[in-house]
Amino acid sequence: SMTATAFAQEYNPLRIGHRGAMGHITENTVESIKKAVEMNCDVIEIDVFTVKDGFLMVHHDDKLERLTNGKGKIEDYTKAELKKLLVTEKYSIPTLEEIIDAIDRKAVLNIELKGAKTAEPTAKVIEAYKKKGWTDADFIISSFKWDELEIMRKNNNNIDIAVLTGSEPADAIEFAHKVKAVAINPYYKTLNQENVSKIKQANLKIYPYTANEPKDIEHLKELKVDGIITNFPERI
Ligand code: G3P
Ligand code: CA
Repeated sequence: SMTATAFAQEYNPLRIGHRGAMGHITENTVESIKKAVEMNCDVIEIDVFTVKDGFLMVHHDDKLERLTNGKGKIEDYTKAELKKLLVTEKYSIPTLEEIIDAIDRKAVLNIELKGAKTAEPTAKVIEAYKKKGWTDADFIISSFKWDELEIMRKNNNNIDIAVLTGSEPADAIEFAHKVKAVAINPYYKTLNQENVSKIKQANLKIYPYTANEPKDIEHLKELKVDGIITNFPERI
C-alpha cells in the first residue's frame, strides 16, 4: 500500500559555493571556481566590480591590499593593470567572462553585484553569452545594492534575482516583489521559524550566507532553507 513516505518530498538544499570554494582555494579565482564545479556545487557565487575601463572583474574587496600585491581601490585600475597583480601570490584576478567560461554551464553562476554601476555591464555580458548558447537560467543576480537590482531588472525582465540583506530578512519581501525577485539571501544568523515562514508564504526562496560550521548548517536544514552558501561545499 501507499505510505506517507512514498509521497514525501525529499529535502535537498542547493549547495552554493561561496566565492568558488574558498574554504579550499583562494576566493574568486578561476581555480576556486573549478574546484567548486568539481565539488558538484549547484550554484557558485562570485563578486564583481566594474573597473576603470569598463570591464567586470571578479574580486570581493573594494581595496586590493588584503589579497593582492596591489594598492588602493580596484575601480581605479584598468583590466590590464589588474591582470599584472597576483592574488595570494599565485593567482590572477579573473574577468567575469573567464569565470563564465570556467563554469561552462556545469553550475548556475550567482553574480553578486558588489560595486556600483555593475548591473548594466553584467546584463550585457549575459546577453553576449546567450548568443553562444547560455540562457538566463544559467545565472542568478544578487546584491546588497538594491538600486543595482532595479537596474538589472530593467535590463532583463527574466533573469533570477536574489535580494541580499544583512538585517531582518522579512523586511526585504516588499522590495523582492517589486523587482520580481525569486529569492532573499539573508545573513544566516537572522533566520528563525517565523521569518522563514513569512518568506516562504511570500513565494520566495531562501539562500542564506555564509554557513560553514556543521551546527549552523544543521540549523538551516531544520529551517528548510532552499540552499546554503558555504565556503565548504562538501558540508552541505
Ligand atoms: O552572496 C552572499 C555573500 O557572499 C555576501 O557577503 O561579504 O561574502 O560578499 P560577502
Ligand atoms: Ca559575495
